[in-house]
Parts: sequence; C-alpha cells; structure tokens
Amino acid sequence: MAGPENPGAARPIYVLNGPNLNLLGEREPEVYGRTTLQELGDKVRRRAGELGLSTDFRQSNSEAELIEWLQEARGKAGGVILNAAGLSHTSVALLDAARALAVPLIEVHLSNPYAREAYRRHSFISEAATAVICGLGAEGYLYAVEALGQRLKERAA
Ligand code: DQA
Repeated sequence: MAGPENPGAARPIYVLNGPNLNLLGEREPEVYGRTTLQELGDKVRRRAGELGLSTDFRQSNSEAELIEWLQEARGKAGGVILNAAGLSHTSVALLDAARALAVPLIEVHLSNPYAREAYRRHSFISEAATAVICGLGAEGYLYAVEALGQRLKERAA
C-alpha cells in the first residue's frame, strides 16, 4: 500500500553508477561484459516494472554529483543501488553520504573485486551497505532490485 504511512513503497529506487560506467560494453568487456549502460538501465527498469517498482537510473563521472544524488535520495528514494566503481575503493566522502541515508543501500559491482587487484578488495561503501552483490554482471543489479523490492514490501505490510 502506498501513502504517507508507507513512504518507502511509493518512492523510486535510485540506481547510481559511478565513473567510467558510461563506457560499459566497450571498456574491458572481458571484465565488465558487453551490456551497455543503456541496456543495463533498460533491464533494471523492466525488472522493477515487473515488480511494481519504479527506478531512477543515473551515471556520473563526478564524485561531487554522486554525493549530491545520495543526499537527494535521503528525501526521495525508497532504497539505493550504488555501483560507485573506482570511487568505492577511495572515497570516504561517498561513504559519509551513504551513511546519511535512512533507506537501505545495496552495493553492486559487475565484476568480483575480490578476485582482482589487491587495491579493489576494500570498499568504503560496504561499511554503509545493507548488502553487497558482486561478480554477477548485469544480473547483480536485478537481484538488488528484487531484494530492495522485497524489503519495501515488508516495510509496507
Ligand atoms: C566495478 C569494480 C571497480 O573496482 C572498478 O573500478 C569499476 C567497476 C564493477 O562494477 O565491477 O569501475 O565497480
């Protein structure tokens, strides 16, 4: 049920993508797959639609813009899916913005950073994440949508 008593149910899921993810499909396809960002957004929107959810799918190469979007999500989103890309491994400022959220955040990575270079094995975002999904390619985003949908439904029940 949507309405003021269940604010999460009516709110969109913000799906935020960080630096270089605009190059999906072209950039290191052996690591990140051949799905483009546009196709990924379409898949996410479709799955969310099947579940009766709406999404706001965005990408930025700017750390500042991602912080602004996380702050915006505080008042507007029912949940957040965040692939902060390279900033996951470097940005305390993004972690702080993620911590300020009162809604669940699922961290997603297309690749499995734990199977890669040592500097990818630590993510600041994980400290504020409800869950982390990695290594499943585009499919990981769809599982994140399902998991958030389930949480929002439970909250609304
Ligand atoms: C990534 C993994 C990061 O280590 C990397 O910097 C990216 C993409 C992923 O989705 O697998 O840009 O977040």
